Amino acid sequence: MRENLNSFIWKGWVLEKLEDFSILEGFDCGDAEINDYYRNLAYAHYAAGITEIYCFYPIGDGCSQEDSAAFADLCCSSINLKVWPEERKQEAGLDRFAYASFPSMKLTRLGVDREFHGLGVGTHLLDAVKNYLVQNHLFGCRFLQVDAYNTEKTLRFYCEKNQFQRVPLSKNIRLEERPTVPLMFDLALLRRVPSDGGTGIF
Ligand SMILES: CC(C)(COP(=O)(O)OP(=O)(O)OC[C@H]1O[C@@H](n2cnc3c(N)ncnc32)[C@H](O)[C@@H]1OP(=O)(O)O)[C@@H](O)C(=O)NCCC(=O)NCCS
Repeated sequence: MRENLNSFIWKGWVLEKLEDFSILEGFDCGDAEINDYYRNLAYAHYAAGITEIYCFYPIGDGCSQEDSAAFADLCCSSINLKVWPEERKQEAGLDRFAYASFPSMKLTRLGVDREFHGLGVGTHLLDAVKNYLVQNHLFGCRFLQVDAYNTEKTLRFYCEKNQFQRVPLSKNIRLEERPTVPLMFDLALLRRVPSDGGTGIF
């Protein structure tokens, strides 16, 4: 198994751009909307350049994309800091940049095959995505964001298990009435920037 731009090896697993979309036909993560997306809509999104679909499978003899336990798709996005409290911007070290928004990667959908639920695959995949974004150094990307289902279980998965935080929103947005909650993970938590002004490539 060789790492390249389309393939990232993370602690015994491979996060890789999906090559054969037919393996999505029988995908079942237990959520009808996400199943429908991966089975019927993912290819059109990919073909239109809207998302890139990644699969996640264990490294092993003869293991390939067909052995994927989970899928995630990613697209470019940004986080608007205009409504952030000043101290929050300072904590993030972003108050000294006069930009209204900062670059992020959006995890548009995440699904773990039902057979693998509760085994840590979703958490391992999120770790792989975070480290892939930090280590590949192809572009600036400060946050990983997701619009998570507004359910206790899903919010616990992202916020308690995977260190996501709520994106600060303007006060008149009432989240309890919404089906999803915007969450973010600050990739600076994983980034090591050399103090000698080097490139940061490690
Ligand atoms: C949510 C999901 C990605 C979690 O993946 P996973 O591999 O089961 O997650 P992990 O094993 O790393 O972590 C399990 C935790 O996720 C939480 N969780 C959230 N939804 C869950 C679900 N449908 N089934 C099992 N666990 C779920 C559990 O609370 C569990 O916490 P615990 O370990 O304290 O019991 C997966 O359950 C899934 O694909 N669900 C259907 C699609 C979905 O809801 N995607 C997220 C949309 S925002």
